[in-house]
Amino acid sequence: MEDSESVANTAAGMDVPRHIAVIMDGNGRWAKARSLPRHAGHRAGVKAVRETVEVAAKRGVSFLTLFAFSSENWQRPQDEVSRLMSLFLEALQREVDDLHRNNVRLRFVGARQQLRPRLLRKIGAAEEKTKENSGLNLIIAVAYGGRWDIVNAARQLAGKVAGKELTVKDIDDERFARELALVGVPDPDLLIRTGGEQRISNFLLWNLAYSELYFCDCLWPDFCEREFDKALSFYGLRQRRYGHTGEQVEAV
Ligand code: FPP
Repeated sequence: MEDSESVANTAAGMDVPRHIAVIMDGNGRWAKARSLPRHAGHRAGVKAVRETVEVAAKRGVSFLTLFAFSSENWQRPQDEVSRLMSLFLEALQREVDDLHRNNVRLRFVGARQQLRPRLLRKIGAAEEKTKENSGLNLIIAVAYGGRWDIVNAARQLAGKVAGKELTVKDIDDERFARELALVGVPDPDLLIRTGGEQRISNFLLWNLAYSELYFCDCLWPDFCEREFDKALSFYGLRQRRYGHTGEQVEAV
């Protein structure tokens, strides 16, 4: 991950998204196509995570949010859930020093209290270790759901109103967003979903309001620098309008 390369991309005029969110889909199908068990697909998916983190940093992306495990994924077979949790723990133990050396700041979002104590401790330690880093912000969504996030924010606000800390009138978009899991993080400019499906699957429901959506057929373990750059090229061709007309945007 060389800073000079990200500078070169910016200098070359490439419009790099500040925040990319990714739904990493297709591990199971990747494994099935090779007559392997599903967990082998998840293991191969970790390699694609590594490559994606490297290329995102290289291209000058500031925030990368990866959907690793949804609120609904708890309903998968017990064995798959258990292996996924072990894989997260293993990947965290193996990668954290390298991420730290590369100036990556790691953060986890989701219903943490649902995670095993050992994983929770490692997550806390990794966040603590990397908290002063100023390079790529890597956000891993585990036990995360967009509806959970919004309900959670509503509960926090209701509690503050009940406690007279806030009035109902104080609640607007900006105040609401301050109670969400991604507080302080700009909304994703680009959502990438691999695996051929074209849906949001309860990912960052609030934050994706104006994101550009990129869907590709590539299965997650095959996602690589070339695929990442295809998504960046797609993004480079979009006109962000935020409800304005094209003419208004062009006039700015
Ligand atoms: C979806 O594919 C993938 C997941 C539910 C797990 C994602 C996990 C990883 C990529 C492993 C590593 C992650 C980190 C952050 C270390 P699927 O199983 O639904 O695939 P399918 O649709 O082909 O069945």
